[in-house]
Amino acid sequence: MKPLTLLGGLTPEQFLQDYWHKKPFLIRGAVSDVGPHVDFKWLSELAMREDAESRLIENRNGRWHLERGPFRPARFRKLGETDWTILVQGVNQHLPHIDELLWRFNFIPYARLDDLMISYAPPGGTVGPHFDAYDVFLLQVGGKKRWQISSQNDDDFIEDAPIRVLKDFRVEEEYVLEHGDMLYLPPKCAHYGVALEPGMTYSIGFRAPPVQELATQFLVYLQDRLCLDGVYADPDLKLQNDPARIGDEMIDKVTDMLKGISWDRDTVSDFLGHYLTEPKPHVFYDAPDDELDEEEFAEALAEGGVVLDLKSLILFRDGMFYCNGEILETEPDDVALWQQFANTRKLSSGDISASILGTLYDGYTAGYWHPAKSVAK
Ligand code: SIN
Ligand code: CO
Repeated sequence: MKPLTLLGGLTPEQFLQDYWHKKPFLIRGAVSDVGPHVDFKWLSELAMREDAESRLIENRNGRWHLERGPFRPARFRKLGETDWTILVQGVNQHLPHIDELLWRFNFIPYARLDDLMISYAPPGGTVGPHFDAYDVFLLQVGGKKRWQISSQNDDDFIEDAPIRVLKDFRVEEEYVLEHGDMLYLPPKCAHYGVALEPGMTYSIGFRAPPVQELATQFLVYLQDRLCLDGVYADPDLKLQNDPARIGDEMIDKVTDMLKGISWDRDTVSDFLGHYLTEPKPHVFYDAPDDELDEEEFAEALAEGGVVLDLKSLILFRDGMFYCNGEILETEPDDVALWQQFANTRKLSSGDISASILGTLYDGYTAGYWHPAKSVAK
């Protein structure tokens, strides 16, 4: 791939080889075209909504305070001039130009991209020194923020604090980020950002599911699909001296029965397709207001093509396509088309074949995608 300004002139290959998961990387002037600024008023309105995940973090008299949204308007009127931060996850699901910014990071597989969170802070606003379990790009939008980082490896957090704040943060490097500057941090790199001027941090975050969660969710997936025949039977039962003992024969029989629970790479692949595209609990899809019938829908696509909803994700593997936690009905001949839709998140009118119209119409009625010409840009 070509060198990217977003990566300070590195190609994605060079970035992946030298920095990804390895070391911090400061990129001055990474993004010059962030689009319209998401101001505090808009962000605070989003933080009042049920379908957004938001937090307010304050440090008052040396004590940390965390409140979770949705917030009431009066809450924001009570905020002081300094020392607080409001953070809203998944802003890409609400604003097309923020969505576009997130997908500029498409040199990382979509299965690993999580969301774009925006934080706004007046001077002194900070969430304290901490580290995250995942990689993150921190893009400064407006204002100035001082970031300090450290390679320290302890996880000694302040007890009784509602957020994870390192007790003893030992600064090794310091940068002041201005509009358009970006700092990449690998997982577990300790960092401490303090706003110097009112401004925003756009955090492009990645998914790093804990092994325990993957295992738990995989077991739920298996359980939902498990279908084993038969009942326990012991026609060869022998008299047992201790009737309260669980007999060896029973253990052997049940061990054999449980061998019916099995999985292979295809099972894991199917599990990942469902799991990775499953929307977060607060995400809902809106069915179209003025629903087109199938013929009108086909006409709308012929005019302008189709675009994925900002909240939708399609992932694929081995001819299987998953969208928002479900399998998509696709024909083998249309695999290339669906792959294009999944990768580019849109299809232009000339690309759409008659055989995918039925599935496209179903997804349209569910709110998973929309005819491009009716989508406000
Ligand atoms: C912030 O936006 O100030 C906090 C982001 C982070 O530290 O991960
Ligand atoms: Co962090």
